[in-house]
Amino acid sequence: MKGRAVSQALNLLLLLLRATGFVKSPMSETKLTGDAFELYCDVVGSPTPEIQWWYAEVNRAESFRQLWDGARKRRVTVNTAYGSNGVSVLRITRLTLEDSGTYECRASNDPKRNDLRQNPSITWIRAQATISVLQKPRIVTSEEVIIRDSPVLPVTLQCNLTSSSHTLTYSYWTKNGVELSATRKNASNMEYRINKPRAEDSGEYHCVYHFVSAPKANATIEVKAAPDITGHKRSENKNEGQDATMYCKSVGYPHPDWIWRKKENGMPMDIVNTSGRFFIINKENYTELNIVNLQITEDPGEYECNATNAIGSASVVTVLRVRSHLAPLWPFLGILAEIIILVVIIVVYEKRKRPDEVPDDECSDKGPLTRESTLHYSDFKAIFLEVILY
Ligand SMILES: *[C@@H]1O[C@H](CO)[C@@H](O)[C@H](O)[C@H]1NC(C)=O
Ligand SMILES: *[C@@H]1O[C@H](CO)[C@@H](O)[C@H](O)[C@H]1NC(C)=O
Ligand SMILES: *[C@@H]1O[C@H](CO)[C@@H](O)[C@H](O)[C@H]1NC(C)=O
Ligand SMILES: *[C@@H]1O[C@H](CO)[C@@H](O)[C@H](O)[C@H]1NC(C)=O
Ligand SMILES: *[C@@H]1O[C@H](CO)[C@@H](O)[C@H](O)[C@H]1NC(C)=O
Ligand SMILES: *[C@@H]1O[C@H](CO)[C@@H](O)[C@H](O)[C@H]1NC(C)=O
Repeated sequence: MKGRAVSQALNLLLLLLRATGFVKSPMSETKLTGDAFELYCDVVGSPTPEIQWWYAEVNRAESFRQLWDGARKRRVTVNTAYGSNGVSVLRITRLTLEDSGTYECRASNDPKRNDLRQNPSITWIRAQATISVLQKPRIVTSEEVIIRDSPVLPVTLQCNLTSSSHTLTYSYWTKNGVELSATRKNASNMEYRINKPRAEDSGEYHCVYHFVSAPKANATIEVKAAPDITGHKRSENKNEGQDATMYCKSVGYPHPDWIWRKKENGMPMDIVNTSGRFFIINKENYTELNIVNLQITEDPGEYECNATNAIGSASVVTVLRVRSHLAPLWPFLGILAEIIILVVIIVVYEKRKRPDEVPDDECSDKGPLTRESTLHYSDFKAIFLEVILY
Protein backbone atom coordinates (compact mmCIF):
# COMPACT_ATOMS: atom_id res chain seq x y z
CA MET A 1 0.00 0.00 0.00
CA LYS A 2 2.74 2.40 1.11
CA GLY A 3 4.97 1.32 -1.76
CA ARG A 4 2.30 2.20 -4.31
CA ALA A 5 1.79 5.69 -2.87
CA VAL A 6 5.51 6.34 -3.03
CA SER A 7 5.76 5.21 -6.63
CA GLN A 8 2.73 7.32 -7.54
CA ALA A 9 4.35 10.36 -5.92
CA LEU A 10 7.58 9.64 -7.80
CA ASN A 11 5.68 9.41 -11.07
CA LEU A 12 4.00 12.73 -10.38
CA LEU A 13 7.38 14.29 -9.59
CA LEU A 14 8.79 12.90 -12.84
CA LEU A 15 5.84 14.35 -14.73
CA LEU A 16 6.36 17.73 -13.09
CA LEU A 17 10.07 17.64 -13.86
CA ARG A 18 9.29 16.87 -17.46
CA ALA A 19 6.61 19.55 -17.67
CA THR A 20 7.29 22.12 -20.35
CA GLY A 21 6.01 25.67 -20.62
CA PHE A 22 6.40 28.80 -22.73
CA VAL A 23 8.51 31.61 -21.30
CA LYS A 24 7.97 33.63 -24.46
CA SER A 25 5.48 32.82 -27.19
CA PRO A 26 5.22 34.28 -30.71
CA MET A 27 3.19 37.49 -31.17
CA SER A 28 0.70 38.27 -33.95
CA GLU A 29 1.68 41.07 -36.33
CA THR A 30 0.59 42.93 -39.46
CA LYS A 31 3.33 43.55 -42.00
CA LEU A 32 3.80 45.05 -45.47
CA THR A 33 5.03 43.18 -48.55
CA GLY A 34 8.81 43.38 -48.88
CA ASP A 35 9.34 43.74 -45.12
CA ALA A 36 10.38 41.01 -42.68
CA PHE A 37 9.14 39.55 -39.41
CA GLU A 38 10.60 37.54 -36.54
CA LEU A 39 8.79 35.24 -34.13
CA TYR A 40 10.32 34.20 -30.80
CA CYS A 41 9.70 31.06 -28.83
CA ASP A 42 11.33 30.36 -25.48
CA VAL A 43 10.45 27.11 -23.67
CA VAL A 44 11.48 25.73 -20.28
CA GLY A 45 11.49 22.10 -19.29
CA SER A 46 13.73 19.32 -18.12
CA PRO A 47 15.08 17.72 -20.19
CA THR A 48 15.31 20.77 -22.50
CA PRO A 49 12.35 20.59 -24.93
CA GLU A 50 12.73 20.25 -28.68
CA ILE A 51 11.21 23.16 -30.68
CA GLN A 52 9.58 23.03 -34.12
CA TRP A 53 7.82 25.64 -36.31
CA TRP A 54 4.64 24.87 -38.26
CA TYR A 55 2.55 26.92 -40.68
CA ALA A 56 -1.03 26.82 -42.00
CA GLU A 57 -2.72 29.23 -44.38
CA VAL A 58 -6.04 28.56 -42.63
CA ASN A 59 -5.99 27.65 -38.97
CA ARG A 60 -7.10 23.98 -39.15
CA ALA A 61 -5.17 21.21 -37.39
CA GLU A 62 -4.78 19.03 -40.48
CA SER A 63 -3.50 21.81 -42.73
CA PHE A 64 -0.31 22.56 -40.72
CA ARG A 65 3.03 21.83 -42.40
CA GLN A 66 6.43 21.98 -40.71
CA LEU A 67 8.68 24.94 -41.61
CA TRP A 68 12.36 24.33 -42.18
CA ASP A 69 15.41 26.58 -42.30
CA GLY A 70 15.95 27.64 -45.94
CA ALA A 71 12.32 27.07 -47.02
CA ARG A 72 10.37 29.44 -49.34
CA LYS A 73 13.42 30.12 -51.52
CA ARG A 74 15.67 30.72 -48.51
CA ARG A 75 13.47 33.49 -47.15
CA VAL A 76 12.86 31.39 -44.01
CA THR A 77 15.55 31.09 -41.34
CA VAL A 78 15.13 29.10 -38.14
CA ASN A 79 17.69 29.59 -35.38
CA THR A 80 17.33 27.32 -32.38
CA ALA A 81 19.57 27.05 -29.34
CA TYR A 82 19.21 24.44 -26.61
CA GLY A 83 20.59 25.37 -23.21
CA SER A 84 18.72 25.34 -19.91
CA ASN A 85 15.79 26.58 -22.06
CA GLY A 86 15.00 25.89 -25.67
CA VAL A 87 15.00 29.17 -27.61
CA SER A 88 14.06 29.53 -31.26
CA VAL A 89 13.70 32.46 -33.67
CA LEU A 90 11.78 32.15 -36.94
CA ARG A 91 12.56 34.90 -39.44
CA ILE A 92 10.93 35.43 -42.84
CA THR A 93 12.21 38.16 -45.13
CA ARG A 94 10.98 39.81 -48.38
CA LEU A 95 7.38 39.07 -47.42
CA THR A 96 4.71 38.33 -50.03
CA LEU A 97 0.94 38.24 -49.58
CA GLU A 98 1.16 34.40 -49.52
CA ASP A 99 3.16 34.51 -46.28
CA SER A 100 -0.03 35.46 -44.39
CA GLY A 101 -1.35 32.75 -42.09
CA THR A 102 -0.93 31.02 -38.74
CA TYR A 103 2.53 30.23 -37.42
CA GLU A 104 2.86 27.75 -34.59
CA CYS A 105 5.71 27.05 -32.20
CA ARG A 106 5.60 23.46 -30.93
CA ALA A 107 7.65 22.15 -28.04
CA SER A 108 8.04 18.79 -26.37
CA ASN A 109 10.43 16.84 -24.17
CA ASP A 110 8.26 13.72 -24.08
CA PRO A 111 10.47 10.74 -24.99
CA LYS A 112 7.59 9.35 -27.10
CA ARG A 113 7.04 12.66 -28.95
CA ASN A 114 8.14 11.34 -32.34
CA ASP A 115 6.29 8.03 -31.99
CA LEU A 116 3.71 8.05 -34.80
CA ARG A 117 1.24 6.06 -32.67
CA GLN A 118 1.08 8.91 -30.14
CA ASN A 119 -1.41 11.75 -30.58
CA PRO A 120 0.78 14.82 -31.18
CA SER A 121 -1.75 17.10 -29.51
CA ILE A 122 -0.95 15.33 -26.22
CA THR A 123 2.82 15.04 -26.52
CA TRP A 124 3.50 18.59 -27.91
CA ILE A 125 2.53 21.96 -26.47
CA ARG A 126 1.86 24.80 -28.92
CA ALA A 127 1.70 28.57 -29.18
CA GLN A 128 0.27 30.39 -32.21
CA ALA A 129 0.66 33.77 -33.88
CA THR A 130 -1.21 35.19 -36.86
CA ILE A 131 0.75 37.12 -39.46
CA SER A 132 -1.13 39.35 -41.91
CA VAL A 133 0.80 40.65 -44.88
CA LEU A 134 -0.70 43.68 -46.65
CA GLN A 135 0.23 45.18 -49.98
CA LYS A 136 2.85 47.90 -49.45
CA PRO A 137 1.53 51.30 -50.54
CA ARG A 138 3.27 52.72 -53.59
CA ILE A 139 5.24 55.89 -52.93
CA VAL A 140 6.79 57.87 -55.78
CA THR A 141 9.69 60.12 -54.74
CA SER A 142 11.73 62.86 -56.38
CA GLU A 143 15.35 62.15 -57.33
CA GLU A 144 18.27 62.21 -54.91
CA VAL A 145 19.87 65.64 -54.49
CA ILE A 146 23.50 66.79 -54.39
CA ILE A 147 24.14 70.06 -52.54
CA ARG A 148 26.95 72.09 -54.12
CA ASP A 149 28.70 75.18 -52.77
CA SER A 150 27.82 77.23 -55.81
CA PRO A 151 25.39 78.03 -57.15
CA VAL A 152 23.25 77.56 -54.01
CA LEU A 153 19.88 76.50 -55.39
CA PRO A 154 16.82 75.72 -53.28
CA VAL A 155 16.05 72.02 -52.88
CA THR A 156 12.55 70.49 -52.90
CA LEU A 157 11.92 66.90 -51.84
CA GLN A 158 8.66 65.28 -52.92
CA CYS A 159 6.77 62.10 -52.04
CA ASN A 160 3.43 61.10 -53.58
CA LEU A 161 1.38 58.22 -52.23
CA THR A 162 0.02 56.81 -55.48
CA SER A 163 -1.75 53.66 -54.35
CA SER A 164 -2.95 52.57 -50.98
CA SER A 165 -5.90 50.50 -49.84
CA HIS A 166 -5.73 52.06 -46.37
CA THR A 167 -6.94 55.31 -44.87
CA LEU A 168 -4.15 57.76 -44.21
CA THR A 169 -4.05 59.26 -40.72
CA TYR A 170 -1.00 61.52 -41.07
CA SER A 171 2.34 61.87 -42.81
CA TYR A 172 5.60 63.65 -41.91
CA TRP A 173 9.27 63.97 -42.88
CA THR A 174 12.28 62.60 -40.98
CA LYS A 175 15.97 63.42 -41.36
CA ASN A 176 18.44 60.74 -40.23
CA GLY A 177 15.54 59.04 -38.42
CA VAL A 178 14.41 62.15 -36.48
CA GLU A 179 11.00 63.69 -37.23
CA LEU A 180 11.26 67.19 -38.70
CA SER A 181 9.16 69.60 -36.68
CA ALA A 182 6.05 71.13 -38.23
CA THR A 183 5.96 68.69 -41.16
CA ARG A 184 3.05 66.58 -39.81
CA LYS A 185 -0.01 66.77 -42.07
CA ASN A 186 -2.84 64.61 -43.42
CA ALA A 187 -1.56 64.72 -46.99
CA SER A 188 -0.70 62.01 -49.49
CA ASN A 189 1.39 64.40 -51.59
CA MET A 190 4.27 65.70 -49.50
CA GLU A 191 6.87 68.37 -50.14
CA TYR A 192 9.89 69.52 -48.12
CA ARG A 193 11.77 72.63 -49.17
CA ILE A 194 15.29 73.71 -48.15
CA ASN A 195 15.80 77.29 -49.30
CA LYS A 196 19.54 77.72 -48.71
CA PRO A 197 20.91 74.17 -48.59
CA ARG A 198 24.25 73.65 -46.84
CA ALA A 199 26.39 70.57 -46.13
CA GLU A 200 24.71 70.16 -42.73
CA ASP A 201 21.34 69.75 -44.49
CA SER A 202 22.59 66.59 -46.19
CA GLY A 203 21.50 63.20 -44.90
CA GLU A 204 18.87 60.51 -45.27
CA TYR A 205 15.36 61.93 -45.57
CA HIS A 206 12.25 59.76 -45.21
CA CYS A 207 8.64 60.59 -45.92
CA VAL A 208 6.56 58.52 -43.50
CA TYR A 209 2.85 57.67 -43.92
CA HIS A 210 0.70 56.40 -41.04
CA PHE A 211 -2.56 54.53 -41.77
CA VAL A 212 -5.64 53.40 -39.89
CA SER A 213 -5.02 49.74 -38.86
CA ALA A 214 -2.08 49.12 -41.20
CA PRO A 215 1.67 49.44 -40.63
CA LYS A 216 3.31 52.76 -41.48
CA ALA A 217 5.15 53.00 -44.79
CA ASN A 218 8.06 55.18 -45.86
CA ALA A 219 10.32 56.07 -48.77
CA THR A 220 13.90 57.39 -48.74
CA ILE A 221 15.46 60.36 -50.51
CA GLU A 222 19.19 60.86 -50.14
CA VAL A 223 20.52 64.40 -49.98
CA LYS A 224 24.28 64.33 -50.52
CA ALA A 225 27.03 66.88 -49.91
CA ALA A 226 30.82 66.93 -49.77
CA PRO A 227 32.22 66.75 -46.22
CA ASP A 228 32.74 69.97 -44.32
CA ILE A 229 34.90 69.81 -41.20
CA THR A 230 33.02 71.69 -38.50
CA GLY A 231 35.22 71.03 -35.48
CA HIS A 232 38.93 70.48 -34.75
CA LYS A 233 41.80 71.77 -32.55
CA ARG A 234 44.05 74.43 -34.07
CA SER A 235 46.89 73.32 -31.83
CA GLU A 236 47.77 70.79 -29.17
CA ASN A 237 50.56 71.62 -26.69
CA LYS A 238 51.97 68.85 -24.53
CA ASN A 239 55.12 67.82 -22.67
CA GLU A 240 57.27 64.94 -23.87
CA GLY A 241 56.09 61.64 -22.41
CA GLN A 242 52.49 62.85 -22.24
CA ASP A 243 49.72 61.80 -24.69
CA ALA A 244 48.23 64.02 -27.41
CA THR A 245 44.64 63.85 -28.67
CA MET A 246 43.52 65.47 -31.92
CA TYR A 247 40.07 65.17 -33.48
CA CYS A 248 37.92 66.30 -36.40
CA LYS A 249 34.16 66.20 -36.85
CA SER A 250 32.23 66.71 -40.03
CA VAL A 251 28.90 67.32 -41.66
CA GLY A 252 28.11 66.02 -45.14
CA TYR A 253 26.53 62.84 -46.45
CA PRO A 254 27.44 60.03 -47.12
CA HIS A 255 29.63 59.84 -44.01
CA PRO A 256 33.28 60.28 -45.05
CA ASP A 257 36.28 57.98 -44.93
CA TRP A 258 38.89 59.52 -42.63
CA ILE A 259 42.66 59.68 -43.16
CA TRP A 260 45.28 61.25 -40.83
CA ARG A 261 48.55 62.43 -42.33
CA LYS A 262 51.57 64.41 -41.10
CA LYS A 263 52.99 67.25 -43.16
CA GLU A 264 56.68 66.84 -44.03
CA ASN A 265 58.03 69.94 -45.83
CA GLY A 266 54.45 70.98 -46.53
CA MET A 267 53.55 67.62 -48.10
CA PRO A 268 51.00 65.43 -46.28
CA MET A 269 52.62 62.02 -45.71
CA ASP A 270 51.15 58.82 -44.27
CA ILE A 271 51.80 58.45 -40.56
CA VAL A 272 54.67 56.07 -39.78
CA ASN A 273 53.65 53.89 -36.86
CA THR A 274 56.80 51.79 -36.37
CA SER A 275 56.88 52.86 -32.71
CA GLY A 276 53.25 51.69 -32.28
CA ARG A 277 52.33 54.94 -30.47
CA PHE A 278 49.62 56.13 -32.91
CA PHE A 279 45.98 55.19 -32.39
CA ILE A 280 43.05 56.23 -34.60
CA ILE A 281 39.34 56.00 -33.73
CA ASN A 282 36.94 56.56 -36.64
CA LYS A 283 33.20 57.07 -36.27
CA GLU A 284 30.71 58.13 -38.93
CA ASN A 285 31.26 61.89 -38.68
CA TYR A 286 34.14 61.95 -36.15
CA THR A 287 37.77 60.88 -36.07
CA GLU A 288 40.37 60.95 -33.30
CA LEU A 289 44.17 60.60 -33.45
CA ASN A 290 45.92 59.71 -30.21
CA ILE A 291 49.71 59.75 -29.89
CA VAL A 292 50.96 58.23 -26.64
CA ASN A 293 54.32 58.85 -24.91
CA LEU A 294 55.19 61.92 -27.01
CA GLN A 295 58.76 62.14 -28.37
CA ILE A 296 60.23 65.63 -28.68
CA THR A 297 62.42 64.66 -31.66
CA GLU A 298 59.83 62.96 -33.90
CA ASP A 299 56.32 64.07 -33.00
CA PRO A 300 55.97 67.87 -33.22
CA GLY A 301 54.53 69.10 -36.51
CA GLU A 302 51.35 69.61 -38.50
CA TYR A 303 48.80 66.79 -38.52
CA GLU A 304 46.08 66.80 -41.19
CA CYS A 305 42.74 65.03 -41.02
CA ASN A 306 41.18 64.37 -44.41
CA ALA A 307 37.50 63.51 -44.90
CA THR A 308 36.54 62.09 -48.29
CA ASN A 309 33.19 60.87 -49.61
CA ALA A 310 31.76 60.26 -53.09
CA ILE A 311 30.98 63.96 -53.54
CA GLY A 312 34.24 65.57 -52.41
CA SER A 313 36.79 66.00 -49.65
CA ALA A 314 38.00 68.41 -46.99
CA SER A 315 40.99 68.62 -44.68
CA VAL A 316 42.21 70.72 -41.76
CA VAL A 317 45.50 70.91 -39.84
CA THR A 318 46.30 70.70 -36.12
CA VAL A 319 49.73 71.91 -34.94
CA LEU A 320 51.29 69.66 -32.31
CA ARG A 321 53.94 71.24 -30.06
CA VAL A 322 55.95 69.08 -27.68
CA ARG A 323 57.90 70.75 -24.83
CA SER A 324 60.82 69.24 -22.98
CA HIS A 325 60.39 67.68 -19.51
CA LEU A 326 62.28 70.62 -18.03
CA ALA A 327 59.97 73.22 -19.52
CA PRO A 328 57.82 73.70 -16.38
CA LEU A 329 61.03 74.19 -14.34
CA TRP A 330 62.46 76.92 -16.55
CA PRO A 331 61.16 79.98 -14.65
CA PHE A 332 62.49 78.52 -11.41
CA LEU A 333 65.82 77.56 -12.97
CA GLY A 334 66.09 81.10 -14.35
CA ILE A 335 65.73 82.64 -10.89
CA LEU A 336 68.18 80.16 -9.43
CA ALA A 337 70.72 81.02 -12.15
CA GLU A 338 70.26 84.73 -11.50
CA ILE A 339 70.85 84.30 -7.77
CA ILE A 340 73.96 82.23 -8.36
CA ILE A 341 75.36 84.85 -10.74
CA LEU A 342 74.63 87.65 -8.24
CA VAL A 343 76.29 85.77 -5.41
CA VAL A 344 79.33 85.08 -7.58
CA ILE A 345 79.59 88.75 -8.58
CA ILE A 346 79.36 89.90 -4.97
CA VAL A 347 81.89 87.40 -3.74
CA VAL A 348 84.34 88.27 -6.52
CA TYR A 349 83.85 92.01 -5.89
CA GLU A 350 84.41 91.71 -2.16
CA LYS A 351 87.48 89.52 -2.59
CA ARG A 352 89.01 92.06 -4.97
CA LYS A 353 88.34 95.02 -2.63
CA ARG A 354 89.40 93.56 0.69
CA PRO A 355 93.18 93.26 0.12
CA ASP A 356 93.42 96.98 -0.94
CA GLU A 357 91.67 98.23 2.17
CA VAL A 358 93.22 96.11 4.88
CA PRO A 359 96.83 97.46 4.72
CA ASP A 360 95.70 101.14 4.78
CA ASP A 361 95.07 101.53 8.56
CA GLU A 362 95.75 98.50 10.54
CA CYS A 363 93.69 98.86 13.68
CA SER A 364 92.18 102.35 13.74
CA ASP A 365 88.86 103.01 12.08
CA LYS A 366 86.92 99.97 10.92
CA GLY A 367 84.05 102.22 9.88
CA PRO A 368 84.40 102.31 6.08
CA LEU A 369 84.83 98.59 5.74
CA THR A 370 81.82 97.78 7.92
CA ARG A 371 79.74 100.37 6.14
CA GLU A 372 80.77 99.05 2.77
CA SER A 373 80.02 95.41 3.57
CA THR A 374 76.71 96.40 5.16
CA LEU A 375 75.92 98.28 2.01
CA HIS A 376 76.73 95.23 -0.10
CA TYR A 377 74.71 93.02 2.10
CA SER A 378 71.61 95.24 1.96
CA ASP A 379 72.04 95.65 -1.81
CA PHE A 380 72.15 91.92 -2.15
CA LYS A 381 69.06 91.60 0.03
CA ALA A 382 67.19 94.14 -2.08
CA ILE A 383 68.14 92.40 -5.32
CA PHE A 384 67.30 89.03 -3.83
CA LEU A 385 63.85 90.24 -2.76
CA GLU A 386 63.27 91.80 -6.15
CA VAL A 387 64.14 88.54 -7.88
CA ILE A 388 61.89 86.51 -5.61
CA LEU A 389 59.00 88.90 -6.18
CA TYR A 390 59.57 88.71 -9.92
C1 LIG B 1 3.53 64.63 -56.94
O1 LIG B 1 2.28 65.16 -57.24
C2 LIG B 1 2.32 66.54 -57.61
C3 LIG B 1 0.87 67.05 -57.79
O2 LIG B 1 0.10 66.09 -58.41
C4 LIG B 1 3.14 66.69 -58.89
O3 LIG B 1 3.21 68.06 -59.27
C5 LIG B 1 4.55 66.17 -58.63
O4 LIG B 1 5.33 66.21 -59.81
C6 LIG B 1 4.48 64.74 -58.11
N1 LIG B 1 5.83 64.38 -57.70
C7 LIG B 1 6.42 63.24 -58.05
C8 LIG B 1 7.78 62.99 -57.52
O5 LIG B 1 5.86 62.43 -58.76
C1 LIG C 1 -7.11 62.40 -43.56
O1 LIG C 1 -7.76 62.62 -44.82
C2 LIG C 1 -8.57 61.53 -45.27
C3 LIG C 1 -9.08 61.84 -46.66
O2 LIG C 1 -9.47 63.18 -46.77
C4 LIG C 1 -9.71 61.30 -44.27
O3 LIG C 1 -10.49 60.20 -44.67
C5 LIG C 1 -9.09 61.02 -42.90
O4 LIG C 1 -10.11 60.87 -41.93
C6 LIG C 1 -8.16 62.15 -42.48
N1 LIG C 1 -7.51 61.77 -41.23
C7 LIG C 1 -7.41 62.58 -40.18
C8 LIG C 1 -6.71 62.04 -38.98
O5 LIG C 1 -7.88 63.70 -40.19
C1 LIG D 1 11.20 52.98 -43.07
O1 LIG D 1 10.81 51.65 -43.32
C2 LIG D 1 11.77 50.66 -42.97
C3 LIG D 1 11.24 49.32 -43.42
O2 LIG D 1 9.95 49.14 -43.01
C4 LIG D 1 12.01 50.72 -41.46
O3 LIG D 1 13.00 49.77 -41.10
C5 LIG D 1 12.48 52.11 -41.09
O4 LIG D 1 12.62 52.21 -39.70
C6 LIG D 1 11.48 53.17 -41.58
N1 LIG D 1 12.03 54.48 -41.32
C7 LIG D 1 11.32 55.47 -40.81
C8 LIG D 1 12.03 56.76 -40.64
O5 LIG D 1 10.15 55.34 -40.49
C1 LIG E 1 27.25 62.84 -36.10
O1 LIG E 1 26.49 61.69 -36.18
C2 LIG E 1 25.72 61.40 -35.01
C3 LIG E 1 25.01 60.09 -35.22
O2 LIG E 1 25.48 59.42 -36.34
C4 LIG E 1 24.73 62.55 -34.77
O3 LIG E 1 24.03 62.32 -33.58
C5 LIG E 1 25.48 63.85 -34.67
O4 LIG E 1 24.58 64.91 -34.56
C6 LIG E 1 26.35 64.05 -35.89
N1 LIG E 1 27.15 65.22 -35.70
C7 LIG E 1 27.34 66.10 -36.67
C8 LIG E 1 28.22 67.24 -36.34
O5 LIG E 1 26.83 65.96 -37.77
C1 LIG F 1 50.01 51.53 -34.39
O1 LIG F 1 50.60 50.39 -33.81
C2 LIG F 1 49.91 49.90 -32.65
C3 LIG F 1 50.74 48.77 -32.04
O2 LIG F 1 51.14 47.86 -33.04
C4 LIG F 1 48.53 49.44 -33.07
O3 LIG F 1 47.82 48.94 -31.94
C5 LIG F 1 47.80 50.63 -33.67
O4 LIG F 1 46.51 50.22 -34.12
C6 LIG F 1 48.59 51.22 -34.82
N1 LIG F 1 47.94 52.43 -35.24
C7 LIG F 1 47.62 52.69 -36.51
C8 LIG F 1 47.01 53.98 -36.78
O5 LIG F 1 47.81 51.88 -37.41
C1 LIG G 1 42.11 63.96 -49.12
O1 LIG G 1 42.72 62.73 -49.50
C2 LIG G 1 42.33 62.29 -50.80
C3 LIG G 1 42.85 60.88 -51.01
O2 LIG G 1 44.21 60.79 -50.69
C4 LIG G 1 42.85 63.29 -51.82
O3 LIG G 1 42.47 62.88 -53.12
C5 LIG G 1 42.24 64.65 -51.52
O4 LIG G 1 42.77 65.62 -52.40
C6 LIG G 1 42.51 65.06 -50.09
N1 LIG G 1 41.70 66.24 -49.82
C7 LIG G 1 42.19 67.36 -49.30
C8 LIG G 1 41.25 68.49 -49.13
O5 LIG G 1 43.37 67.46 -48.95
